[in-house]
Amino acid sequence: MTRLEQVVARGGPESLLFIVGHPLSHSLSPAMHNAVIARLGLRLRYIGVDLPVGHLPDFFRVVREGNFLGGNVTIPHKEEAASLADERSEAVDACGAANVIRVRGRRLRAENTDGQGFLDAVSEAGWGRRFRKVVILGAGGSARGIAYELCRRGAREISILNRSISRAEGIASVLSPGFPGTNISAGKLETHVMVEEFSGADLIVQCTSLGLRGEWENFPVERVEKTTRFADIVYRQGGTELVRRLKKRGISAIDGFGMLAHQAARSFYIWTGKRVPGGEFLSAARKTVAAG
Ligand SMILES: NC(=O)c1ccc[n+]([C@@H]2O[C@H](COP(=O)([O-])OP(=O)(O)OC[C@H]3O[C@@H](n4cnc5c(N)ncnc54)[C@H](OP(=O)(O)O)[C@@H]3O)[C@@H](O)[C@H]2O)c1
Repeated sequence: MTRLEQVVARGGPESLLFIVGHPLSHSLSPAMHNAVIARLGLRLRYIGVDLPVGHLPDFFRVVREGNFLGGNVTIPHKEEAASLADERSEAVDACGAANVIRVRGRRLRAENTDGQGFLDAVSEAGWGRRFRKVVILGAGGSARGIAYELCRRGAREISILNRSISRAEGIASVLSPGFPGTNISAGKLETHVMVEEFSGADLIVQCTSLGLRGEWENFPVERVEKTTRFADIVYRQGGTELVRRLKKRGISAIDGFGMLAHQAARSFYIWTGKRVPGGEFLSAARKTVAAG
């Protein structure tokens, strides 16, 4: 029996929720969800599963057979989770990435709360939910959900820049047919391309894992226009380096804590039917970070 299967077997009458990802040590999701579960007095436990690439099909087999209500999927498994699930929400079908799994009998339904959670966070920052010209840096699982939601909200132009351009092209080709009113383009994550694309952008979204693992070396901080808003989806105690540098220039910038809290609140509702304000998840996350 694997360690995970032992945890599942020990679950008894308590139902389980999971987050699966790799690496997982930075994740605040178990602390946030378990704090809300304790306050509500639910017979639930949220566990973290650090799972390298290649093992998701085995993990989903355990989930189908165990006492799970569902779970979250994070870096780097979001696209594979979407394809392995038995059912998909409209958002997952459209963008090809899932950050939420809901267990129904032995079937797994894939959902995506990243895009809506992101827009909840930018709206809370007072930026609204509609943007005309957006530049997305990164083309992983999270960028997919966010790009989909921005298209749905009527963005006119989305430029996706990524280290490996094929992944950015993949998002553009998946989303373009469903959103003929949005011009979605793909480019290389290089300084001169960013400088070109930043011109006239009303929003830049940082969706790479830089800032969490490694730092930005070629980001043209001086070329972000004063009217552009900058959202980093990476979160870190004290803010990410990019957010700090941009704020110093007087640019309106937020890090990923707001998105983390709001995607969690939406996930929790999908599993339990209970509406808990994003603010409660946010204070649980901040308390955990402050406690080190
Ligand atoms: N705030 C929140 O609620 C929230 C939610 C989801 C994710 N996140 C954070 O967002 C980040 C991305 O998550 P994800 O699920 O989209 O991950 P992912 O699917 O693994 O994608 C990672 C992205 O980062 C890029 N990248 C990685 N290392 C790089 C480097 N050295 N230089 C340039 N680009 C690099 C990858 O480019 P290639 O395609 O070229 O490899 C890819 O675009 C993670 O740090 C995660 O913690 C935050």
